[in-house]
This record gives sequence, structure tokens and C-alpha cells, in this order.
Amino acid sequence: PETIGIIGAMDEEVELLLAGMQNAETMDKAGIRYYKGTYHNRNVVVCKSGVGKVNAAVTTQVLIDAFGVSKVLFTGVAGAVHPELNIGDIVISSECLQHDMDVTALGYERGVIPYQEVSAFQADKDLMLLAQKACGELGEVNCRVGRVLSGDQFIASVEQVSWLYEHMQGACVEMEGASVAQVCFMNGVPFVVIRSMSDKADGSAHANFAEFTVASSRRSHAILDSMLAQM
Ligand code: ADE
Repeated sequence: PETIGIIGAMDEEVELLLAGMQNAETMDKAGIRYYKGTYHNRNVVVCKSGVGKVNAAVTTQVLIDAFGVSKVLFTGVAGAVHPELNIGDIVISSECLQHDMDVTALGYERGVIPYQEVSAFQADKDLMLLAQKACGELGEVNCRVGRVLSGDQFIASVEQVSWLYEHMQGACVEMEGASVAQVCFMNGVPFVVIRSMSDKADGSAHANFAEFTVASSRRSHAILDSMLAQM
């Protein structure tokens, strides 16, 4: 039977998953702790990657190589980029792109990785549909399918967030999704990123992030919980 890899970047994002796991065994690799067990009777490996693209990339490759996961789900919070998104709303990735990949000096558009065909990594259609269904079941939750932008930067200004919307068509911005997506693409493993908005990546982002991360993580987890019950 298949094993599903589940990643969050921070404690708030994975602790609810760990609390819902059965028979969890732990294994440490490259400084990350992996929890292998079951969740709603599915075989899962849950882990906290830490923040940023390198942490998320290494964690994803370990999930694939050492644990043989055949799907990867990412749960957590993000800054809202699309102007219609509010704190607490959900973004389900259609695709993920690294907004801080910048080779514009050589004539490439922002986000484009030179010398390779793909820079926007497509999420798995079935996982996206399942996430949308799970989101619908939560009731009064605004859910948008869209492009997840990732970079090793916490975005906290109107200028930056407006730019990411206008020039890179982002739905939300975070710090891991596109590196998970790229590693999944390189290995032929399907993935989806589910993010609940903790802030609007503007001048209030630091205060909002501190206030809303727990509640938003809870909401992202609720979607994963429902997805895992139906996989
Ligand atoms: N994660 C949550 N909010 C974020 C922001 N404003 N920028 C980057 N990552 C985030």
C-alpha cells in the first residue's frame, strides 16, 4: 500500500497531524525528524521541514528516497497575494513558482529557471480536486485555486505584494511550496500545497502572522484531515 508524505514548515502546522497519528515511529535524517505511522488508516510520514526552500527540498527528497512516498501534501500558512483573499481563506495550489529566482540580468523573466523547460510546477489534478472537496465540506470557508509563489523572504510590504500579484499572478506567497513542487516534479511524484492565509503580506504582516498562524494552521490541517479520510 502507498505511503503519503505530509510536510509542514513549523510546529503549529504539523502538531495536529502528529496528534492524530497512530503507531508513529520516529526516524532522523539530515537533521529532520520523520514520523512514520498511520492517519485515518492511511500510511503516512509526517515531518516538519523547517522554514525555507532548502529545508523543504531536502525534506521532500528524503521522503521520496528513504520512505518511498508516492504523493506529497504540504500544509501550512501563507501571506495572501490575490486582493480578494482574506486572513483565514484557503489557497489550493494549481502550480508553484519560485518568485525569488531572478536571472532577469540575462533576459529571463522573474521566476524562470534558466536552461530548463519548466519553472512553474503543476500540482496533481486529483489531489487538487480532493482538496477542493475537503474545503467545501468545511462550510463557510473561502477557497481559491491558484498559483503559489515561494521565496526565501517573508513578504511584508504593499509594494512587494502588489508586485507579486501584478507581475507574477500569485494567489499567495510562502517560503517552501515551490521547492517541494520542484523536487516532486524532478522525481515524478504528485503533490498539492494547501495554505491558509495568516496575513496579507503587507505592512501588518508581522503582527497578523503572529496573531493568526495558529488558527490558520488549524484550518489547513482540517482540510488535510478530511482529504486523508477520503484517499
Ligand atoms: N508565510 C506566511 N506569511 C508569509 C509572508 N507574508 N511571506 C512569506 N511567507 C509567509
